This record gives sequence, structure tokens and C-alpha cells, in this order.
Amino acid sequence: SGASGTRVFTLGLQAGETRFKGGPATRTWGVNGTYLGPTIRVRRGEQVEFAVHNGLDQATSLHWHGMHLPAAMDGGPHQLVPAGGTWRPRWTVDQPAATLWYHPHVHGATGDHMYRGLTGLFVVDDDVAVRLPSEYGVDDVPMIVQDRAFDGDNQFEQPVPLAGSLGVIGDEILVNGTIGPYFDVTTRLVRLRLLNGSNARLYHFGFSDDRRFSLVATDGGLLAEPWETDRLYLSPGERAEVVVAFEPGERVELRSYPSDHGGTLGRLDGFDDRLDICQFRAANALSGDAEVPGVLGAAPHLAGEPIAETRSFALASDQINGRSMAMDRIDFGVREGTVEVWEVVNDNGYLHNFHVHDVQFQVLTVDGEPPEPPLRGWKDTVLLVQGKRYRLAMRFRDHTDPNTPYMYHCHLLQHEDEGMMGQFVVL
Ligand code: C2O
Ligand code: CU
Ligand code: CU
Repeated sequence: SGASGTRVFTLGLQAGETRFKGGPATRTWGVNGTYLGPTIRVRRGEQVEFAVHNGLDQATSLHWHGMHLPAAMDGGPHQLVPAGGTWRPRWTVDQPAATLWYHPHVHGATGDHMYRGLTGLFVVDDDVAVRLPSEYGVDDVPMIVQDRAFDGDNQFEQPVPLAGSLGVIGDEILVNGTIGPYFDVTTRLVRLRLLNGSNARLYHFGFSDDRRFSLVATDGGLLAEPWETDRLYLSPGERAEVVVAFEPGERVELRSYPSDHGGTLGRLDGFDDRLDICQFRAANALSGDAEVPGVLGAAPHLAGEPIAETRSFALASDQINGRSMAMDRIDFGVREGTVEVWEVVNDNGYLHNFHVHDVQFQVLTVDGEPPEPPLRGWKDTVLLVQGKRYRLAMRFRDHTDPNTPYMYHCHLLQHEDEGMMGQFVVL
């Protein structure tokens, strides 16, 4: 803690070695460690300040993905921290409880810097009382899911043989930096905070016995009500909070299953996408209740608002609307306090998604239809199934700055690095 109630966090970016498996250690990057970083946890209303020390031999940045904050604090490509330097962003947390995260955002090198290991979770809590499992590490479990390819010397391989048009796709799954992970279940219900922390891979989560589980929160916070399902997609950068019920003594595997979007996910079709993610091992006696509350948060409510502006975004060939990202070009300005609708379409055969900084948006329609339950909550990143038109409503509030832009982009990091990104300012 610092002066006048500000909470101060110190984050050191460093290079090191991590032993993921037998044989040589892997050269990695981490935050306050050699791989990944600590979970940052704050409450709505708190003022936070970070001292981000860059102990690496090159400039990088730390972006707070999903956070509503001034553009100059966003940690995007305009807030590089030079090697040996320290960056001190500060802001007041003002958004509902949610599972956010942080990662580097250097134009042209985001994929590389993230692949080496600079990633962590950023959890926001608030005062909305909902009876969900909430004991961190016991029944409220962070899961950063990543794929990695190792070469013969156990070094991260990039580019890898399956790279192609998606970017790096690895054949080994890491959860929180661990290969072949398991979790000892001690309660009837467990909440998993899932982050797709991969550069390019799409996950289609489900359990080995096809049990049903409840989606309770998306990128920006709680859904209005739980959605029961046996499968859930997460594209790179998306988060989901799910609640799973266990029986005493059982073992079950969380997996990723092949995509059933058919040809719409392009090159992913050629892969064997059946992957074990994590094994759950339940104790012979489990504590706590087994009831998921039927009412969770407040549903997004932008549908009836007057729309100040409608904009279109077509993603194709590493460009958005036929333009590549340029650091010195601001694509447009939005008016503070207004609601805009952004119509986004994936115009070619490859997998893309769409992420907007500073805001959480509401998916109004997908191809004119109301969205499926997993797209009914607040989102900051959405999977774009090929050819479908997504209408996203978002309100821009606070933090006007005519000179410092926020980003919007595809979160497949090779696409982003190659230019599938643009910049806007809030005026
Ligand atoms: Cu997760 Cu522009 O970033
Ligand atoms: Cu972001
Ligand atoms: Cu893309």
C-alpha cells in the first residue's frame, strides 16, 4: 500500500529458465518469476498503481486486457518500457467483478513476447454478493491454458511446423505453466477461471464424460443467469468462469474437443484438436453445497440506447478494412459518453477474433439473430465465425485523450503483429 489509499504493485519482467519436463530447462520470460506472473487482485473503487520494471534486454509493455482505464495507462504499443526502465501507470478500478489479464503489447512482437511467458491474471472483485465458490486455489481456480511447441533442446519453437496462417500452434498443453496438470478437488463445486492464453489456438472445452457445467461469467463479468452446457469455445484472449459439480472419489478430464464449426475455422480443420487439458481428482469426501445460484449479475443493457455512430470492420488478409496498423495513424475518434455499434465480419477463411481496448461490449446480434447464451454477457473479445456479421454495442466513458489511442485488433497474435489492428481515441 502507498499514500492516500493507493495500492501499489511491483512487477519485475525478467528472463530465466523454467523446467517444464525432463531434459534441459527452457529459456523463458516471466513476471516476478521465470514463467507467467502473479494473479493481481483488486476491488472495484480502488486506486491502483504499478511499478513495472523491465529487466529484459529489450523494450516491451504490459497491457491490462479488459480494463477500463485511461489510454496512457493501457500498456499498449505506445507505452513501451525500455530495457532497464520502470513504468508507473495508475488508475481507479471502475468496472464489475471480472477475470481480466495482462500481457505485453509491442507492435510486431506481441506474439513473441507473450509466447516466452509474459502473461498473468488480473481479477477484479466488487460488492455484488453472489454465492459462487470463491476460495482462491481451493474452489476458485485460475487456469491459464496455453499450447507450446518444444524443440529437441526443450526450447520454445517459433515458428513451428503448424504455424501457417494462424501463427504458432503447439502440441503440448500447459495450464498455469504446468504440463500434464491435475487438480485435487475438495469441494462439491469448483469455479474455474479459464483464460485462453495461447497465441493462436482455439479451445473447445468439455469434460471426458460429457458432464454438464455452468458458464457463470464471460470476459467482463457475471452473466445474468448461469448457462448449462457440455461444450464451450474460447478463442485467444477470451475468458470464461465456469462452475463444475464433482462426486466424491471420481476422476474426470477437462479436454478440448475438435471444433464443429466445420470449414469456417479454416486451417484448424487439418489438426487433431483432441487435447487433454487438466485432470480433476475428487477426494472421498467433498465439502460445501452443490447448488449454483440461479441469478448472477446484471445483463448488458445497451440494446435500447441511442446509437451515436455505426462503424463497419471487415477482417481479411492481416488487415482491417483493407488497412494495416500504422503506429502514427489514428483511425477514428469516438465521443465520450456515447454508445456506438461496431459491425464486425470475418471476411476470409481463416480463424479471427476481435478485441477492443478500454470497453466491454454487448453482442447485439449475430447475423441478425440474438446471440447464443455464451455471447449474452459483457465481452471484450469475440470469436468471429467466418462470414457472420457481429453487431457489438459499446459505451465509451471517461478518459478523453485526443493524443493517445486505444487498440482494436484480432487477438491471434501473428495476425495482430502483421497489422490486423487499428487505433481509436476517445474525444
Ligand atoms: Cu489482449 Cu490488445 O490485447
Ligand atoms: Cu486488450
Ligand atoms: Cu486473425
